[in-house]
Amino acid sequence: MFRHDPLPFTTRLLWKHFVTILLSVGSRHSLLQEVSALSSRLSSTFVPVSHRRSCFMCTTTAGSKRVAVIGAGAGGLVAAKLLRDDGFAVRVFESADQLGGIWVYDKASPLYKSLRTNIPKEIMAYSDFPFDAGLPSFVKHTDVLAYLRSYADHFALHDMISLSTPVETAEYVSGESGQGWRINGEEALYPSLFVSNGHYNTPRYPRLVKNEFRGLVTHSKFYKEPSPYADQRVLVVGGGPSGVDLAWELHSVAKSVVWADSSFADPETAEATKSKLPSNVELVGRVEGLEEDGRYLVIGPDGSTVTSDDRVDAVIWATGYKYDFPFFSPSSGLIPSTDGSPQPLFDSLYVHLFHKAHSASLFFLGLPVRIIPFPMMESQTKAAIAVMKGRVKTEDLASLPVFPWVMSNEQFPYCALLEQLAKGTHHSFPRSTDPANDPTYDTMKLPRDIELRRQMYADSSLAKRRVPGRYRERNYRVLGAKGEGEIEWEVTEVPEPVAA
Ligand SMILES: Cc1cc2nc3c(=O)[nH]c(=O)nc-3n(C[C@H](O)[C@H](O)[C@H](O)COP(=O)(O)OP(=O)(O)OC[C@H]3O[C@@H](n4cnc5c(N)ncnc54)[C@H](O)[C@@H]3O)c2cc1C
Ligand SMILES: NC(=O)c1ccc[n+]([C@@H]2O[C@H](COP(=O)([O-])OP(=O)(O)OC[C@H]3O[C@@H](n4cnc5c(N)ncnc54)[C@H](OP(=O)(O)O)[C@@H]3O)[C@@H](O)[C@H]2O)c1
Repeated sequence: MFRHDPLPFTTRLLWKHFVTILLSVGSRHSLLQEVSALSSRLSSTFVPVSHRRSCFMCTTTAGSKRVAVIGAGAGGLVAAKLLRDDGFAVRVFESADQLGGIWVYDKASPLYKSLRTNIPKEIMAYSDFPFDAGLPSFVKHTDVLAYLRSYADHFALHDMISLSTPVETAEYVSGESGQGWRINGEEALYPSLFVSNGHYNTPRYPRLVKNEFRGLVTHSKFYKEPSPYADQRVLVVGGGPSGVDLAWELHSVAKSVVWADSSFADPETAEATKSKLPSNVELVGRVEGLEEDGRYLVIGPDGSTVTSDDRVDAVIWATGYKYDFPFFSPSSGLIPSTDGSPQPLFDSLYVHLFHKAHSASLFFLGLPVRIIPFPMMESQTKAAIAVMKGRVKTEDLASLPVFPWVMSNEQFPYCALLEQLAKGTHHSFPRSTDPANDPTYDTMKLPRDIELRRQMYADSSLAKRRVPGRYRERNYRVLGAKGEGEIEWEVTEVPEPVAA
């Protein structure tokens, strides 16, 4: 743990006891002063692992290339591991005082108290580190944090991480003294930079024609538990995973829930969804505005905006998050300014990963949505390493197929492509993700582990739509591979409690 320690750990312990004994027997003042000065000099040299902030120099091996990673969440951790294993000297900058990213449940986290995962643990994990076998498939958020901590412990990642060290500025410089990424104005440059700062930090609010409501208003990022909404009529805006969970959680304490999503303007969709919901949840279309007295403006079935007759007491915007990279200056032109749509950002990247202006040195992890983030970020890191090591030419990146940023099913061929890039076999990947332009795309066979992920993801997504209130009671089990064939798996469902 203490590489480069001039004194072994036991000697330090003995020294500490010696100091304590001296202090407790009340030795002469001058001796005490001398001892305590020496003690503080020593303790600044020997910082316990848990208190150590920055020890990048300890991990730098001669000749290895320096890489900076922003963030010690699920993305930064897997990047640090794979880069270190490939011989890079890694420094992870983490603004929080502990690793884990959004999975650290505190005021700044977008998690809420009751949150359980919406992806089964069997496919959510990194490829080489399963979740505890004793856990159910849809684990509690505390289990995910424990998982990430044990990943960092198991693969000895702590030494690379500088906690409480935000990246405030990251700029590319090129001059006589070299070229690379200057972080926080430090003199030494990093040839490569991985950006894994997460994109569920900055709430996104819709543009409204009117926003005059003065009651209780919050965003799902700040929602922690339902008790403040007891006996209230609550408007939950947004049909994404946060909106779904909040509508379900609130119905049991609130008087009623009005749940808004664009798709609910369509009467057929609204009826089909309503049939699976508790009776005190009503569905309305996209929210366009709020009146001071709690009436709300929504898009109706014919596309026109209508004002409700009824009033709500509280509003929760479960309307998603904005991508945010405050450490890149606007003048760098790296991140195009947008009206809220992430498209210009995605247009700046090859396969959502390599920045077009610095394709061999600037990498973004985990940006697409509707994905399984941990294994995807693992594959992204491997593909980035292949470029850093020259196994993939940067000229090849421009001809890679274009994937949507809202992925769902597309994430599986996307991960297959990343794995091919990692191996340098990407030339055989279909040129286009549109079967009309490249028919081989439609008949492409996925690697077995990715195919397993595809099947379990499809099954759990279907269950989410079919039984939204109970899909997390399903448990998946991988049975193993049969010869050259697919990996077999099974799913069991905890039976619904029988009403007394
Ligand atoms: C409510 C919610 C529920 C989710 N549920 C699931 C789920 O069930 N399963 C699943 O797989 N995924 C889920 N996700 C997606 C989740 O974001 C990923 O699992 C994962 O946390 C992404 O990791 P990350 O490292 O990209 O980002 P984060 O976890 O956000 O980590 C980013 C890290 O970067 C640090 N950072 C940010 N800016 C700086 C800076 N300037 N300098 C230094 N450090 C910085 C942050 O402090 C943080 O530690 C959920 C997301 C949300 C919002
Ligand atoms: N583990 C879990 O169970 C869990 C729980 C919550 C969240 N998450 C994760 O957290 C991430 C973010 O999810 P999220 O649901 O917060 O954000 P999201 O997926 O971006 O969803 C936001 C939703 O708000 C809708 N919306 C925006 N403006 C609206 C308006 N004016 N009226 C009605 N609807 C509006 C959007 O619809 P349009 O697209 O039509 O604008 C979209 O459906 C996802 O990765 C998700 O998987 C996981």
